[in-house]
Amino acid sequence: MTLTAHEVDELKAAPAVDGILPAVHRRWSAQAYSDRAVDEGILRKLFEAARWAPSSNNEQPWRFLVGLRGTATHDALMKSLKGFNLAWAPKAPVLILGVALKNFSSNGKPNGYALYDLGAATVLIALQAAEMGLNTHQMGGFEKKTARELLDVPEEYELGSLMALGYQTDPDELGSEQLIAQEVAPRTRKPLNELVFSAWGEPATFVK
Ligand SMILES: Cc1cc2nc3c(=O)[nH]c(=O)nc-3n(C[C@H](O)[C@H](O)[C@H](O)COP(=O)(O)O)c2cc1C
Repeated sequence: MTLTAHEVDELKAAPAVDGILPAVHRRWSAQAYSDRAVDEGILRKLFEAARWAPSSNNEQPWRFLVGLRGTATHDALMKSLKGFNLAWAPKAPVLILGVALKNFSSNGKPNGYALYDLGAATVLIALQAAEMGLNTHQMGGFEKKTARELLDVPEEYELGSLMALGYQTDPDELGSEQLIAQEVAPRTRKPLNELVFSAWGEPATFVK
């Protein structure tokens, strides 16, 4: 055994900064998921959190297709996975496809913020999941055409990310050295002074 699930979870947490929301601190993207199913009461809470995301013109353009293991939707989402994601994501007990309505429902004009708003709602799911002891892992590595066709997603909707959801398990369960190494690798981030400016390129005083 390399590390236990709990040890990896501790290792992956962002450095503790006083006053940061616990879920922000705890959220990370796992690859090792246990078989444990996610109960429907929990799923409902995750989407309740998503429902309260802000959106341009309060359009709420997001829609989520939820595949629970053993269902046709889960099978279809598994079939759409690409490349490296095929090595771990099929084990996740829940796969969620996020899509966004491309045009405003009020006037039919293009909503340039549709995917942006879907992203905001998706992050609320990830944070609510972290708060409830679950892990989420978004993926862009899936065949959108396949997912659209297999799941009859109308052309009016743009596909966003596919998200794995479940309970994290021991990294050894991944069964491959490469996956295990990734699972236990430290998380990295750019420093704040590369990201937050008071004038273009000039780090704000509070991040210097
Ligand atoms: C839109 C999007 C697409 C992503 N696509 C993939 C993917 O296809 N495969 C994968 O393993 N991780 C994917 N990720 C996960 C990122 O690699 C991960 O969020 C990033 O490395 C930061 O790690 P953290 O989530 O643990 O903080 C994606 C994340 C996002 C937001």
